[in-house]
Amino acid sequence: MLEAIAEEIRRCTRCALAQGRMNAVPGEGAADADIMFIGEGPGAAEDKQGRPFVGPAGKLLDELLQDAGLPREQVFIANIIKCRPPGNRDPRPEEIRACREYLDGQIAALNPQVICPLGRPATQTLLDPKAAMGKVHGRPFERDGILYVPIYHPAAALHNPGLRPALVEDFKKLIALIEHHLQ
Ligand code: URA
Repeated sequence: MLEAIAEEIRRCTRCALAQGRMNAVPGEGAADADIMFIGEGPGAAEDKQGRPFVGPAGKLLDELLQDAGLPREQVFIANIIKCRPPGNRDPRPEEIRACREYLDGQIAALNPQVICPLGRPATQTLLDPKAAMGKVHGRPFERDGILYVPIYHPAAALHNPGLRPALVEDFKKLIALIEHHLQ
């Protein structure tokens, strides 16, 4: 099911981002993962490789996962939009809407116990269009039997090193919540 969705994404022309991409980036990970990370959208490295979080933000995410003892291969990593916006601008509402069915399909196919939205666009798309990261980061919300734990985006901590301790703290909370939730 996840592979069928990924195939559809690779052929997708539902929005204008299809024209500028090198590769669509459906997402990847274990088909039986309990934990799903959802970022914003592909950057340059992801567009080139067709894989999520393989650039600088991905390196930081990998480090956080490794420090937490949670191998990347055991989780599923996706984005709210699957094609790179020009110049890495924020995704537009119509692009998020065009891609939503794919994201919802991936969530339904994976049926994860915990979803971790990374950063504002993913958090606002999945939880609350008015959510402010400063308020909601590291705070769990339960909906439809899924525990959502929004955290700061790794890229935000790269642009603003002052956010890094908060991200590390968010990750610790996330891991503690996962351990508690998956018992
Ligand atoms: N940032 C994202 O939000 N997603 C990626 O896949 C890479 C960087």
